[in-house]
Amino acid sequence: AFISLRQLLDHAAENAYGVPAFNVNDMEQVLAIMRAAEKTDSPVILQASRGARSYAGDVMLRAMVGAAAEMFPRIPVCLHQDHGNDIDTCLSAMAHGFTSVMMDGSLREDAKTPADYDYNVGITRHVAALAHKIGVSVEGELGCLGSLETGSGEAEDGHGFEGSLERDALLTDPEQAADFVARTKVDALAVAIGTSHGAYKFTREPTGDILAMDTVKRIHERLPDTHLVMHGSSSVPQDLQDRINAHGGAIPQTWGVPVAEIVEGIKHGVRKVNIDTDCRLAMTAEFRRVLTEKPEEFDPRKVLKPAMDAMEKLCADRIEAFGSAGHA
Ligand code: G3H
Ligand code: 13P
Ligand code: ZN
Repeated sequence: AFISLRQLLDHAAENAYGVPAFNVNDMEQVLAIMRAAEKTDSPVILQASRGARSYAGDVMLRAMVGAAAEMFPRIPVCLHQDHGNDIDTCLSAMAHGFTSVMMDGSLREDAKTPADYDYNVGITRHVAALAHKIGVSVEGELGCLGSLETGSGEAEDGHGFEGSLERDALLTDPEQAADFVARTKVDALAVAIGTSHGAYKFTREPTGDILAMDTVKRIHERLPDTHLVMHGSSSVPQDLQDRINAHGGAIPQTWGVPVAEIVEGIKHGVRKVNIDTDCRLAMTAEFRRVLTEKPEEFDPRKVLKPAMDAMEKLCADRIEAFGSAGHA
């Protein structure tokens, strides 16, 4: 059954757990997540980026997720727009039955240029007012996602910002977060704590100087009733990097966000944890392995089935680690 993000995260807060939000683009990813949810008895957040919506098509995405809800009737499903860049994107998502939208006003409409605070407040408040009329939840974002390792921000498409920003200027400011939530009425707030999207987050195991978990704690102290969202939360597991590279891949050594750090965040108000890259890595490791071990194979199902199974396992692992198992 479909459920809004607000309903889902309120339950998570009452019971002190976090919910992974996995990106979906195709049937295999939808099935992998739903099977993991069914096995672990967990609610799920399926999120679609603008890229996912244009890849599959809105009608196909809506139908796939609708089919998933029908196949797994016990599992509460939130269908969420990931990184909406303008009002139209959020409105069209609502028209297609999404139960939650992210209005990412931390960036301008081009989804590249950092936006000023007043723009972010204005557009996010507008989307929240519209969405709340029809029971749809809204996630906002404050601060700039991007690696703190280099001391310069990185826009969400991986291109560096112009100039270099100070570490503190990139992180979400707790006082400003309180003002932002009060003025926009968002249901959940994405915070910037030094993570970035994609596989290349850190060049070493992240420690306190590059992953600002202390900022999560300070925001949670200031806003104990606000559901916090961690973007860029893939862990980029070493074994997946190794498996891809053992079968012809060329992924330079990299580090993601350790699961233990996310679990620490969940103790301090993090309720939604965005994961896309790890699912991509899990599937690609199997694509590479199967096609390398069986070069004569050409039935897509022989590649997609093990990839789906690998993603299911990864999703179940995160569901267990974040404590949402048993809460469907
Ligand atoms: O926000 C980033 C997500 O990983 C979605 O990526 O825009 O390539 O679908 P995408
Ligand atoms: P990863 O690239 O770390 O999986 O982050 C995904 C994300 O934040 C989607 O919004
Ligand atoms: Zn994100």
